[in-house]
Amino acid sequence: MASSKSKGRVSLDERFYLSADEFFPANAGLGLTYDDVSLATRYSEVLPRMTRLDSALSDSLALSLPIVSSDMDTVTEHRMAIAMALNGGLGLLHYNMPEADQVTEVRRVKNHIHGMIGDPAVVSADDTIAQVLARIERDGLAFSTFPVTSSDGTLLGLLPGSTVKERHGQRKVVAVMIPRDKVFTVAEKDLGKDPIATADRKFSEHVGQNKLLVVDAKNKLRGLFTLSDIERISEESRAHVRPTRDADFRLRVGVAISVPRTADGEIDRARLLAHVGALVDEGADALAISTAHGHTKGVGDALRLLRKAHKGLTLIAGNVTSGEGVEFLAAAGADTVKIGQGPGSICTTRIVAGVGIPQLTALYVASRAAAKKGVRILADGGITKSGDIVKALTLADAVILGGLLAGSREAPGKLMEINGKTYKEYRGMGSHEAMRKGSAARYGHSASGKFSKVAAEGIEALKEVSGTVDQVLGTLAGGVQSGLGYLGAANLAEHRKRARYIRVTPAGQREAAPHDVIEIKAGS
Ligand code: XMP
Repeated sequence: MASSKSKGRVSLDERFYLSADEFFPANAGLGLTYDDVSLATRYSEVLPRMTRLDSALSDSLALSLPIVSSDMDTVTEHRMAIAMALNGGLGLLHYNMPEADQVTEVRRVKNHIHGMIGDPAVVSADDTIAQVLARIERDGLAFSTFPVTSSDGTLLGLLPGSTVKERHGQRKVVAVMIPRDKVFTVAEKDLGKDPIATADRKFSEHVGQNKLLVVDAKNKLRGLFTLSDIERISEESRAHVRPTRDADFRLRVGVAISVPRTADGEIDRARLLAHVGALVDEGADALAISTAHGHTKGVGDALRLLRKAHKGLTLIAGNVTSGEGVEFLAAAGADTVKIGQGPGSICTTRIVAGVGIPQLTALYVASRAAAKKGVRILADGGITKSGDIVKALTLADAVILGGLLAGSREAPGKLMEINGKTYKEYRGMGSHEAMRKGSAARYGHSASGKFSKVAAEGIEALKEVSGTVDQVLGTLAGGVQSGLGYLGAANLAEHRKRARYIRVTPAGQREAAPHDVIEIKAGS
């Protein structure tokens, strides 16, 4: 059926609610961000739970959840990267650590077997039960069953929780443990491509067992599965979360790098190639050249060098907020370009340097340049709620989150209690403290500089603890699915096509948040 537009008539909706290519050019010269705009709802036959959020960062790196955790030292180390990949997204490891440590972080993600406790608490055969009880008390352990190992990790038996009682305090572990030949084990090599399914099957076959120990060919303890973990994970997998895995069934991980320089300011090509080579050998799936200003000769040269050395590797680069910047990075070999200068919750770039473009306008310009060049874009920074992600995904292929993940259990950093509330540190990579730890180059400063004389472009802050990454992403993904349902979009490609925008006034923004009530329970 011909639309009213093609017949020369424009409907009321079409006059008020504009497509991206009408709305943004009509607002050229005006910097718009998430709260400045709302999306119009459309006729829908799509229920939120039917929607798919599949996206990709390159032809070889698909995501079932278009969310990437930021390469910041208070957001992404291996625990966050594992949690992100298990939820269908991707973690970008930060680079405020020695190069060798970054390689180890990649290894930890690639070797992670979901559901397997890789370094279980063990006891030795000579310990007394009283010593085991003291340890449980000291370390606050919530369990009392332990593998028994010798000092070189050889499995000797299993200490069952039923024997860990005061009345047996003087006995030695060796006297009460289940001996090795009776312990329920599986050889590491038999775990196969889907260790969860293997463990699940073994638990079903052996009624009454609730701990499965993993051993290598030399009978060294490699890990432990518990029945309760396996049951929880099997339940979750029925909820259609598809982890981000490589062809060998290992979790995928991205790594951010800065470009090393020699004393005379040139790119240290040998060091850059050696480090990236080590990361790739360990299985890194994507490399991100992360700087505050990506439209520069240095980033272009480094990209060209890496593209030549690693043809099939997913390369991410940024950050930029201009069409020219996107085209420049695409031409130099990037698959994905990070968009965002100064929108982050801990950023002060716009205040300090007076530069940067509000996110939605930047994303529109970048998305049109990216389409021309056949590359993808990531909306990086400034996202504070799921509705912002819904808006970002009308223009970008995925989003990067810092602040929304920094309070989660898997983010690095210690918990702090202040006035009965628990917090975690969250700081900008351009803050003095982070630059001292290594991120100075990201902001164009010398790594050995005196940071007191350098203008910080980020602040140090706290985030209230927000539960696990599973919980945070579950809530965000649910919100995004609602957004797609309202637009009648079954997937992100349809979401982009069906998006219609309208400007919102300050009064409209007030109307959008809870108002004129006394809130007794936050909505999310
Ligand atoms: P959100 O809003 O998710 O933003 O907390 C995270 C993003 O902010 C960027 N970033 C910075 N930008 N100064 C800046 O101008 C900084 O110190 C800084 N640290 C991080 C980065 O792109 C991150 O993903």
